[in-house]
Amino acid sequence: MKQCVIVLLCALITFTKQATLGDKCVCKLADADQLFPHDKLSTVQDSASKCNSNITPQKTLEMESLLLGLEKRLPQLQKDVSMLEREDDGDLYGVLSLQVIENEMTDIKQLIDKLNKTTLENQRLTTNISKQLDDLKAEMEELEKHDTMHVIKSRQANQHLMKDLEQCRKRNNATIPPTQAPHGRCAHGQFLNITGPIVYTAGEYPGSYPYGAWGQDPKPEAGKERWYWLVLMTSSNRYSNYVRRYSSLSALIVGQCTPGNVQIHSSNPTTNTIQGPNVVMYGEALYYNCYNQDAVCRFNLTSKTVTTVQLPKGTRYNSKGNFCHLEECYPFTDLDLATDESGVWVIYTTKQDFGNLVLSKVTDGEPVTLGQTWRTSVYKQGVTNSFMACGVLYVTRYISRDLEEIFYSFDTATGLERFNIGIYIHKMSPNIFSLNYSPVDQMLHAYCDTYMVSYKVLFG
Ligand SMILES: *[C@@H]1O[C@H](CO)[C@@H](O)[C@H](O)[C@H]1NC(C)=O
Ligand SMILES: *[C@@H]1O[C@H](CO)[C@@H](O)[C@H](O)[C@H]1NC(C)=O
Ligand SMILES: *[C@@H]1O[C@H](CO)[C@@H](O)[C@H](O)[C@H]1NC(C)=O
Ligand SMILES: *[C@@H]1O[C@H](CO)[C@@H](O)[C@H](O)[C@H]1NC(C)=O
Ligand SMILES: *[C@@H]1O[C@H](CO)[C@@H](O)[C@H](O)[C@H]1NC(C)=O
Repeated sequence: MKQCVIVLLCALITFTKQATLGDKCVCKLADADQLFPHDKLSTVQDSASKCNSNITPQKTLEMESLLLGLEKRLPQLQKDVSMLEREDDGDLYGVLSLQVIENEMTDIKQLIDKLNKTTLENQRLTTNISKQLDDLKAEMEELEKHDTMHVIKSRQANQHLMKDLEQCRKRNNATIPPTQAPHGRCAHGQFLNITGPIVYTAGEYPGSYPYGAWGQDPKPEAGKERWYWLVLMTSSNRYSNYVRRYSSLSALIVGQCTPGNVQIHSSNPTTNTIQGPNVVMYGEALYYNCYNQDAVCRFNLTSKTVTTVQLPKGTRYNSKGNFCHLEECYPFTDLDLATDESGVWVIYTTKQDFGNLVLSKVTDGEPVTLGQTWRTSVYKQGVTNSFMACGVLYVTRYISRDLEEIFYSFDTATGLERFNIGIYIHKMSPNIFSLNYSPVDQMLHAYCDTYMVSYKVLFG
């Protein structure tokens, strides 16, 4: 019996019918083309994404802040040297000026060394990445030769279609008038500038506690509208177990503490201790990073109970995702709590976001939960602090001992990021360990090297 094998083939594979041998009909498959090497394509894609993650915003930020640092310090040195020259009386140099200049030279030397190191690293990275790109390009060209099934071409076509679709959507969205104000979610208008310091005080314990936070509760209980709160890191500059309350700003300044402390627990540190200085008070409750946890704690000052909300897996905590400037990182600043017109926020970073700032709304219900989350392209360890105002995240960086710059913003209403805010904070001491906006009176409250300082925000 004659037997023919019928083989269904895809268009690629050609076959030739051979002469019949005996009573059998044999079909010989001749695969004219090689199958498309999907494995190889995915390896190339992996390498490409690895290559992308190598170039982090940190690398450029590092260079930028180093150069900024140098830019600020060199004119200062010049000024001091010319002062020294004026003081030169032939034999005896102004000893004090010499010392100042020596310190500055050391500073500048350190900056240059760091810059040199960063530059060398960047050069290495650039060379490495150029090579990787060349390799990837060669592999892609090789792959395209095999691309008889149009795997790559159809992916490219898909990508173009997706892009067109996205643009089309954006065009459509743009024609719908925005339902929210263009500058955040309240009616103050645009964040223009800040003035001050308005308040500058050592408070009740002059010089004793370098780390802390202070401010006003934006949603106070009736009768407590003028009250202020103060949290001092009393244990190892890291932990605290109480909130101190003052009945007015003048009481805070003169250090007259009534009604006094509200304690979370008598031990410090223990479970639910306050860890790190970036805490806020809202609605008679204190929001803070719970001791030894990647979680936000809420201490209810009325019921004296603590509830916690867990942050996403991968969140950096226990001093692994701090605010930093060139000279130091601020320990235990992994979580920055903030208040604005809309309530409480938490600013932090995660492994999966490569150390970039992440922002989540904290909803003040019972139990406390995390609301919407936004991701930014700012590397946390290149910035010194952040605060929220009208639904917009503002981020600062260290310029010099006297100046801090609000340089970045992220609008949660539009998703718009800006890197050119250029508003300067005139500092009374070099380090701002906590910074928060008070929507009650549009003040920025800062705690700087034992001092409480505040600035007025100008909107317009
Ligand atoms: C930069 O570093 C390299 C290697 O550590 C060193 O050879 C070079 O002299 C340094 N350059 C400057 C300007 O310090
Ligand atoms: C260069 O790239 C290779 C391959 O990705 C990597 O193993 C190596 O560590 C890189 N070298 C530098 C200096 O980044
Ligand atoms: C367009 O607007 C809708 C609803 O307001 C939103 O869900 C969508 O993400 C927007 N699309 C783009 C591309 O912005
Ligand atoms: C902000 O205010 C300061 C003085 O308080 C002023 O020198 C500066 O030019 C102002 N900046 C802007 C952007 O208006
Ligand atoms: C705090 O506790 C009091 C008394 O139990 C309660 O009425 C209030 O709603 C609580 N506050 C928050 C923010 O949960």
